[in-house]
Amino acid sequence: MKNVVITGGCGLIGSSFVKSLSKKNLNIFIADLNQKKAKELIKSIGSKNVFYFNFDVTKDKSIDQTFKKIIAKYKSIDALIHCAYPKSKQLGTPFGRLERKYLNLEFDYHLSSTIILSQKIIKIFSKQKKGNLIFLSSIQGISPPKFEHYFGTNMTSPIEYSALKSGIISITKYLAKLHKKNNIRINCISPGGIIDNQPKKFLKNYLKSTGSKGMLDPEDLNSAISFLLSSSSRYINGQNIVIDDGWSL
Ligand SMILES: NC(=O)c1ccc[n+]([C@@H]2O[C@H](COP(=O)([O-])OP(=O)(O)OC[C@H]3O[C@@H](n4cnc5c(N)ncnc54)[C@H](O)[C@@H]3O)[C@@H](O)[C@H]2O)c1
Repeated sequence: MKNVVITGGCGLIGSSFVKSLSKKNLNIFIADLNQKKAKELIKSIGSKNVFYFNFDVTKDKSIDQTFKKIIAKYKSIDALIHCAYPKSKQLGTPFGRLERKYLNLEFDYHLSSTIILSQKIIKIFSKQKKGNLIFLSSIQGISPPKFEHYFGTNMTSPIEYSALKSGIISITKYLAKLHKKNNIRINCISPGGIIDNQPKKFLKNYLKSTGSKGMLDPEDLNSAISFLLSSSSRYINGQNIVIDDGWSL
């Protein structure tokens, strides 16, 4: 049975991956800070193959300990899907009021953590001589925001989010190229916005730029993840798969 770690497995997107992949012949390891949500999620799924590890992607020790525990008991980690998204309290501060201290924190939480997490999991993949790493970027990482969608709402799309998400695509391509001879694949998906109680006005504006769906449900991403985990995608490496109902066209 293959072993799949899902960081941020309690979140909006991560929990959908956990639910969908728990129906397959896989061991799923939720690596997340939120113990309460993890317990509820595991209970609601009722699967014997879903496990929780209290995990903080911003702490090197926590990453090491989690991987060590999984390897000790389950021998290998076949894939890791990185959905954890640590946010600082200032997320959403308007561009004109952004401060260096806060920006450094955001870049550390998201990009430094992703690089260190990759370094540690790739060490394990290299020993195993195989591995599959999947990152989450966003449409905001491939294109500037459609600012007109936010008119008349108190929502915004922060500049640092665009920078972070472009960074994730760069990390994907850099690491995939570096490790392509080592039977390690590294890909990324870039979802469009996910429905999560946004104001009606925003949803209506957003729909103007897409096909029939508009904002997506988390479940709309599940088949892409199953595909990237499967051998059907064995020659797909270093790619960013955009799932956005045509938003970016
Ligand atoms: N929600 C969207 O509309 C959307 C769209 C495109 C891309 N994305 C991307 O998808 C990914 C997941 O987004 P989401 O909406 O599911 O986020 P979310 O906030 O719903 O979930 C994030 C999860 O990460 C966990 N987490 C936070 N800090 C952590 C830490 N330090 N260590 C470990 N776990 C931690 C949280 O407990 C939570 O379970 C992000 O990278 C995000 O940028 C989201």
